[in-house]
Amino acid sequence: MKIQIINGPNLNLLGKREPDVYGNTSFDSYLLSLRKNYPNIAIEYFQSNIEGELIDKIHETGFTFDGIILNAGAYTHTSIALHDAIKAITTPVIEVHISNVHAREAFRHESKISAVCKGIIAGFGMDSYRLAVESFTPISPKRDFAIA
Ligand code: DQA
Repeated sequence: MKIQIINGPNLNLLGKREPDVYGNTSFDSYLLSLRKNYPNIAIEYFQSNIEGELIDKIHETGFTFDGIILNAGAYTHTSIALHDAIKAITTPVIEVHISNVHAREAFRHESKISAVCKGIIAGFGMDSYRLAVESFTPISPKRDFAIA
């Protein structure tokens, strides 16, 4: 199982940026624990502040990886080019946000990419990424329960 995490603009500042909204943890240290907790999943990571580089990474991984977890940052709300890139590939993409974008400014309520993503996870802090990884795992203790 191969999963690509892609973080967009300003997410390189996680841990320093608006800690009341995004927390105190850097993505590098969060990634270490994510990899430790999912030793059987190859979790690749890419961050860029440049829209075209995000698109290139989606193209590069979008036909071979099992899943892409994309936090497009503010490009979520503006980028038709990212929408088209996600539509062009075959790998399912999960849209992720650390904050609950719907509880924030109105301009964050619209996403240009939701409609072409498999699902959306927002508002769980850094745990949003783990929940997205979890969604790609077919069997896990948390989801292995019987429905009556
Ligand atoms: C974000 C929410 C976006 O509105 C914002 O521009 C970000 C981060 C989040 O993870 O909560 O950069 O995607």
